[in-house]
Amino acid sequence: MIFTVAIDGPAAAGKGTISRAVADRFGFRHLDTGLLYRAVGVKGGDPATAARTLLPEDLTGTDLRTLAAGQAASQVAVIPEVRAALTEFQRRFARAEGGAVLDGRDIGTVICPEAEVKIYVTASPEVRAHRRWLEVGGEEAQVLHEVKDRDARDMGRADAPLRPAPDAVLLDTSTMTITEAVGRACALVEAALSARKRAGGHG
Ligand code: CDP
Repeated sequence: MIFTVAIDGPAAAGKGTISRAVADRFGFRHLDTGLLYRAVGVKGGDPATAARTLLPEDLTGTDLRTLAAGQAASQVAVIPEVRAALTEFQRRFARAEGGAVLDGRDIGTVICPEAEVKIYVTASPEVRAHRRWLEVGGEEAQVLHEVKDRDARDMGRADAPLRPAPDAVLLDTSTMTITEAVGRACALVEAALSARKRAGGHG
């Protein structure tokens, strides 16, 4: 079975938690595509070369989750050569046999427009900054500033800007618990799997 769940949205909207839960629930593989950009951002040197020569061990660094790595990621993510170097790997992951969940910014729009389920997860900047601050600590006002800065760069870039695919389902998690958000996402996947079975597809 080839079945892709594309989960996009801005920083700290809950994509990671939702994606991992959906993958667990349906036994699908999961790729956090933000990690690829974070790894390129922290690797240093020429970003396009770093993207072309990325290795699995580059994705295991403990420094990849920091605010600084997030900022570095969004800076290299505007470079078309960096995005191009990472595209093929993501597409193969998305369309390999067995279901796949990918979370990022451009999965439903660029990497896998044919995804069977597309969810755009969002929340207000304040709620997202508060969640990120609980994870990383420091000054909450500074975290909010960084979240807004990264949103502006991700939404404003020319190549693969962050925006919902026209056929994505919007999931605003501002006032949802994580259990509710995961429940909604799983229901969407369940519905798409059932529709495929009814249509006599290979599900
Ligand atoms: O976890 P969080 O939502 O804060 O960020 P992330 O998903 O790890 O992504 C870090 C940065 O990588 C984003 O701000 C984007 O600039 C970039 N990114 C991208 O351009 N395309 C993707 N598919 C995933 C991440």
